[in-house]
Amino acid sequence: MRALSLAVALLAGDAAAQQATDAIAPEIGAFEAQAASAPVQADEWMVVAAHPLASRAGARVLREGGSAADAMVAVQLVLGLVEPQSSGLGGGAFLVWYDAASGDLTTLDGRETAPLHASPLLFQDAAGQPLAFMDAVVGGRSVGVPGTPMLLAEAHARWGRLNWADLFAEAHDHAAQGFEVSPRMAASIAANADTLDRFAATRDYFLPEGRMLKAGDMLKNPAYAKTLQTFAEEGPAPFYTGPIARQIIRAVQSAPETPGTLGALDLAIYEVRERAPVCAPYRGHEVCGMGPPSSGAIAVGQILGTLAGHDLAAMGPDSAEARRLIGDATRLAFADRGRFVADSDYVPVPVKGLLAPGYLQGRAALLEGPDALREVQPGRPEFDHAQLRGDDDALELPSTSHISIVDRYGNALSMTTTIENAFGSRLMAGGFMLNNELTDFSFSSHEDGRPIANRVEPGKRPRSSMAPTIVLRDGAPVLVLGSPGGSQIIPYVANAIIGHLDWGMDVQAMTDAPHATNRFGTYALEEGTGAAALAGPLRAMGYEVQLQGLNSGLHAISLGEGLQGGADPRREGLAIGE
Ligand code: GLY
Repeated sequence: MRALSLAVALLAGDAAAQQATDAIAPEIGAFEAQAASAPVQADEWMVVAAHPLASRAGARVLREGGSAADAMVAVQLVLGLVEPQSSGLGGGAFLVWYDAASGDLTTLDGRETAPLHASPLLFQDAAGQPLAFMDAVVGGRSVGVPGTPMLLAEAHARWGRLNWADLFAEAHDHAAQGFEVSPRMAASIAANADTLDRFAATRDYFLPEGRMLKAGDMLKNPAYAKTLQTFAEEGPAPFYTGPIARQIIRAVQSAPETPGTLGALDLAIYEVRERAPVCAPYRGHEVCGMGPPSSGAIAVGQILGTLAGHDLAAMGPDSAEARRLIGDATRLAFADRGRFVADSDYVPVPVKGLLAPGYLQGRAALLEGPDALREVQPGRPEFDHAQLRGDDDALELPSTSHISIVDRYGNALSMTTTIENAFGSRLMAGGFMLNNELTDFSFSSHEDGRPIANRVEPGKRPRSSMAPTIVLRDGAPVLVLGSPGGSQIIPYVANAIIGHLDWGMDVQAMTDAPHATNRFGTYALEEGTGAAALAGPLRAMGYEVQLQGLNSGLHAISLGEGLQGGADPRREGLAIGE
C-alpha cells in the first residue's frame, strides 16, 4: 500500500472556467488516501462504493440474497449520511441496469427538474449578465426537485428481491447511533465552512456550537433517522406530496437572500423516466450508458469512436501521441456537447448523428498531424431537426458519487448519484442536503442571438456529465464503471475504458492510473504522479499544460473468470465481494 497526497481539486479548462474555479471552494481540501495494488476478487457478487460503511451495507444485502437493486438502495441511504457532501435523498441520479434473466439493458433517469416558475433568466442579474457561480449555487434558487427517493423506489419495484424496509437497517442505525466523521467529510466541511455557516440547520449540524466537525468525531443525525423511518414505512410519497415535501419547500422558499420557487406542484408532478440506453461500439464491445439529459454516454461514445482507427494499444499509456489523440478527441466531443446536448424532452438532440460512424470518421480526420488542435468547433452531425444553437457556458465542479454492483444472479448496476456541488445548495431538510443541480444549466440563455440548448426552462432537467456505464461483449457485461468529478467524469470514464480495453489494465490499475484530461484546450495532468512526465512532450505539441489534483472516484467491476472490483485510491471507497 502506498499513500497518496492529493491537493485541492481544480477544474482544468479554458481560462475563464479556470479563473472561476480558483475562486471556488472545492469538495475537499488536501487529504490522504490509500491506493490498493490489486483488485478485490470474488466469485458471486461485488459492490464498490465511496465509503466503507456504504459498501458494507450493500455487501450485507447481497450476502442475504438481495439483488443489485436492493444493495444499491442500502448503499445510497448510507452514502447520504456519511458522504453528505456528494449525494443523497435531496439529489438526483442516473442508473444503468443489466438484467441477467432477459439480457436487457435499462436506463432510469432520476435527474432533478427545474420548478415550473423557473425561467431562462434564473441565473442572470438585472442587466442580463450570468451570476458568479457560487452566488447561484448557495440558497434556494438552485434547488431542483429531488429524483433520488423516487429512483430508489422505482429500482426496487422493478428489480428488488428483499423487503423494502430491510434495506434501511444500516443507514438508520448509523444515523440514530452515530457514525465517525471521515477525513474526507471533515476536509470538505473545512473547505466549505463559510457557506455551510449561512443556514441555521446546516450550521447546527456541521458546525455545532461554532466548531467544525473533524475526522473521528461521532455524529448522529436524528432528523435523517426520522426521514428514513418514514421512507421505510411509506415509500417515496412523503417526499413528493407529504411531510418531507413540506420540509423541502419550507427550506427552499425561506432561504435567506436567495429563496427558490420550488413548490408543492413541482414535487407532486415529478417522475422518474426510463430512457433509451445510448451504446457505442469500441474494440468489439458495446459501451452503454445514459442518454440525455446526460451528455455522459454520448461524449464517452464519441471519444472512443473518434479514436477507433488508432492503435492505442501499441502506443501505450506513457505515449504523448496517444494522449494527443485522446485529448483532442475529448475536446471535439466537448464542443459538440456544449452545442447540442440538453434535456431531449425540451430540445431535439441528434444522438444518432453525433455517434454515427461516418460523422466520427470526419471528426477523427481532424486529428491528423503531429500537433494539438489549434481550434475546436462543434461539428455538423446529421440532424432531423436542424436548428441554430449557441454554445453552453455551464460550469460543473467535482462532486458526486458512483456505485457499481454485480449480484449473484448476474445482474449488473451502475449508478452515478449527485447533489451537484459539495453539500449542494447548503440547505438541509429532513437531515439531508438539498441539491443545487439547477446550476448545471447554462446561465446564459443565448449566444449571439441563438438559443442555448441547455438553458433553464420550467420543468426541464439540467444537462449532466454523469456517465454510469456498462460495457458489453456479445451482449453480456464485462465492465461496470462510473465516476464523480463534474464534467471531468467524461474523460475519467473514457480513459478508464481505454486503460482496460487497450492497455490491458485490471480494474484497480485502471482506477489508480494517473489522470491526463483535456476538455477545453488546457491539458490537465495529475500532479504528484507519472502523468507529470507528459508535460514536456505535450507542451511541445502546442498544449497549455496544468499540473493539478484530479479528484476522480472511479468505482469499477470487471466480469470474466470471476469478478474483480476496484475502488479509487483518491477517495475513501471500498470494493467488497464474495
Ligand atoms: N452535477 C454533476 C453532473 O450531473 O454532471
